[in-house]
Amino acid sequence: MPEPKPFQRLPKSIVPEHYVITLQPNLKSFHFEGHVLIRVKIVQPTQKIVLNTVDLTIDKVTIQRTDSEGSGIVKPTTISTSEDDEIATFDFPRELSIGNYDLEITYIGEVNNKMKGLYRSKCVNANGEEKYSAVTQFEATDARRCFPCWDEPAIKATFDIILEIESGLTAVSNMPVKKLTNIEGGLVQYKFDTTPKMSTYLVAIIIGDYAYEEARSGSVVVRLYAPPDKLSQGQFALQISPDVLSYYNNYFNVAYPLPKMDLAAIADFSAGAMENWGLVTYRETCLLMDPRNPSASRKQFIALVVAHEFAHQWFGNLVTMEWWTHLWLNEGFATFMEYLCIHKLFPEFDIWSQFVTDTYIRALELDALKNSHPIEVPVGHPSEIDEIFDDISYNKGASVIRMLHQYIGDDDFRKGMQSYLTKHQYGNTETEDLWKSLQEASGKPVGAVMSSWTRQVGFPLVKAKLDFEGQDAILSLTQEKFCADGSVEENSPKWLIPISVSTSKSPGNEEVTTVLEDRETKITIKNLPANGWVKINVGTVGFYRTQYTPDMLHRLTPAISNQSLPPLDRLGLLDDLLANVQAGRTPTSEVLRLLLAFKNETHYTVWSSIHNCLCKLSVLLSNTEYYDAFCKYARLLLSGIGERLGWEPRNDESHSDTLLRSLILSQLIWFDDIEHGKKGVELFERRDQRPIPVDLRGVCYRAALRVSNDTNTLDTLLDVYRTTNLQEEKDRIGRALGSLKGDTLLSRALDFSMSADVRPQDSVFIITAISNSRQGRKLAWEFVKARWPELSERYKGLFLLNRLIKLCTENFATYEMAKEVEQFFEKQDCSTSERTIQQSIESIQLNAAWLTRDLNCIKEFFDSENALIL
Ligand code: BES
Ligand code: ZN
Repeated sequence: MPEPKPFQRLPKSIVPEHYVITLQPNLKSFHFEGHVLIRVKIVQPTQKIVLNTVDLTIDKVTIQRTDSEGSGIVKPTTISTSEDDEIATFDFPRELSIGNYDLEITYIGEVNNKMKGLYRSKCVNANGEEKYSAVTQFEATDARRCFPCWDEPAIKATFDIILEIESGLTAVSNMPVKKLTNIEGGLVQYKFDTTPKMSTYLVAIIIGDYAYEEARSGSVVVRLYAPPDKLSQGQFALQISPDVLSYYNNYFNVAYPLPKMDLAAIADFSAGAMENWGLVTYRETCLLMDPRNPSASRKQFIALVVAHEFAHQWFGNLVTMEWWTHLWLNEGFATFMEYLCIHKLFPEFDIWSQFVTDTYIRALELDALKNSHPIEVPVGHPSEIDEIFDDISYNKGASVIRMLHQYIGDDDFRKGMQSYLTKHQYGNTETEDLWKSLQEASGKPVGAVMSSWTRQVGFPLVKAKLDFEGQDAILSLTQEKFCADGSVEENSPKWLIPISVSTSKSPGNEEVTTVLEDRETKITIKNLPANGWVKINVGTVGFYRTQYTPDMLHRLTPAISNQSLPPLDRLGLLDDLLANVQAGRTPTSEVLRLLLAFKNETHYTVWSSIHNCLCKLSVLLSNTEYYDAFCKYARLLLSGIGERLGWEPRNDESHSDTLLRSLILSQLIWFDDIEHGKKGVELFERRDQRPIPVDLRGVCYRAALRVSNDTNTLDTLLDVYRTTNLQEEKDRIGRALGSLKGDTLLSRALDFSMSADVRPQDSVFIITAISNSRQGRKLAWEFVKARWPELSERYKGLFLLNRLIKLCTENFATYEMAKEVEQFFEKQDCSTSERTIQQSIESIQLNAAWLTRDLNCIKEFFDSENALIL
């Protein structure tokens, strides 16, 4: 575990109540002049003021008492700053007694190129001219890079923002414009309305060449801001926004409190989107799409992102975590709510099924590691805070909430949420406060059940065994901690596990529900037919893995092939088995055999889980001589469904079938299926005569790069990358580069990723796409090592660095590589990535152990007829 860094919260002797922030940014010199007036209350006499700043040059500081005791202006005797602690300390000549004061600070700063604080974003306009905007990204701890402040989420205040900018540009902030004035120097002064009481990390500003389109949701004005030539790409997001807002107004029964809601597309943006109150900022790909060729996957993605950020307007903005330890309250909840909302708005997306593969399983995978962390994790220093924006806070957070939602039911859940939001509005909370409201609403022991999931690291393995007694079956269940390496912890912690059981008598229904509190329990199942099956964790809602006896699994297998077992149960069964295989609890041949039962599978999400399984196996087997045999096996498994879907989208097909077609065809191409490869190339080559259906473009690019595998195709696609004004097209091409083969082309693609043609935030996705392939893995790692100084400088303090480290290392499968990765990072300064690096090393070691253990059984499987019985 990483050593905690020395850290202290700001002293509580002074409370800021209102900020008036005036900024004059220059988009040519990239400097800005700042002035902040902070109305503060001194609540304990003190001789010094400590607040947060970083990378600002403070010019002048004064304080003046403003209440009846008022006296003159006082200046500090010393102003000292600490870069490490990100604070400034003002020492005053005499004690400041209790009362109201105005603290004024004049300073200068840089409109930086770090994608945090107040930073510059480059746009090339329709005439090919380079223009810069100035935009902000403050979460978690970067408001202090823009104005000196008490930069902690619990220190809420109101804000007046004043911007003095060149005329002709547009400026937007959290609140509507109150007044526009022409001021000296040909500048325009924008004064915005006062915000509600809020945390510093939610303040936002954008200044640049932006145009907007407007809609309304009741009395709330909704605008979508984008570069003028991309405005039409925002139609879909703008169209759904009022519906999303009214969904939450209604669900939470608390009206959105601001008069407006803006969505802005920002060209250079490190995260996916940011929930600034009243001005949500987005990466272009998370907000914009081709309005003439709307792709199913892009629509779904944009809808989820919008729903996530809007959920934060209540959960996070109106009611905020007391400290970053409770970050999961924000992110876990918003992730859960985005699905609840999109399920309601787009029932045809079948979005809750996708939750299981996209959110729930990713959380289980990470949380099985020894280097995982509890949902509620003590953090202090900013570098530790950045690191917990991870799959635990988001995905485990959302998964345990989904489990709770099912446990208490939607009515009580909603009642509890409404009372929580009303009670704590404009305030701050800890996890316990939420449990309290939900417990009151439901009358169930929410606090006790949930603490076992949020305070402990990891999750349980439930082992199931079935014995028959006459007509009845006795189901025995035990719990222990699930460890990725298969070890059993002595004194393993216990969880309060909501258990549900279904049987072959009524496959989709919960026949029994109970809470497993102890190590073990027995459940009687009446009248189970002699060949009947029993399935634990109905609908894959409980946050645990199940291990069945071979007999129980054997009974379940036919219910997979004939699909009498519901989709999410089929999926859960497969994924649990894979996890048990990785942990060495059962041999790899078991999962290779079970997969065969899925050959008639039709459900998108189940295929998405099979895909996940094939990827894991492919990573492992790419290190062996059985890789070709495995590819053949995969092709056979995929062939039936590939045949059924074909290459022609049908007019009336479902959303899921559209997604399924791209998934299956790209898998077939990945595993080098010759016929499908040819077809993809053919469509690619005829694209000028007949445009490729948008959801198949990525697939065709992959086919073209992989099958043709020549410089020409690569050049053609890189040219499209450079010239298109559709970010989604750039992303499709960037990710398809992982399908190239051969060192020469892969190296060219790696060089391209760091060229001026690719925005810094997008390079990571190209490098990781390449590292995902068998041929590219080592090459990408060598590239990352060689370019490390540049990469770490670029992404310092951004989650992109952790993503890069994880995806470029975790798929190795030898102990030597584990050592190499460890030794490489030991020599670097990686303070914000310590846990990620440990997780990667652990994953590599797990792969190596898996391979060593099961090589023989894999050999036997592929040497026997098994692989061919499809
Ligand atoms: N609050 C986050 C943005 C954020 C992420 C700030 C990391 C600082 C560090 C925002 O609500 C968020 O979660 N964005 C997601 C997209 C979302 C749809 C899951 C993101 O950026 O990945
Ligand atoms: Zn979020």
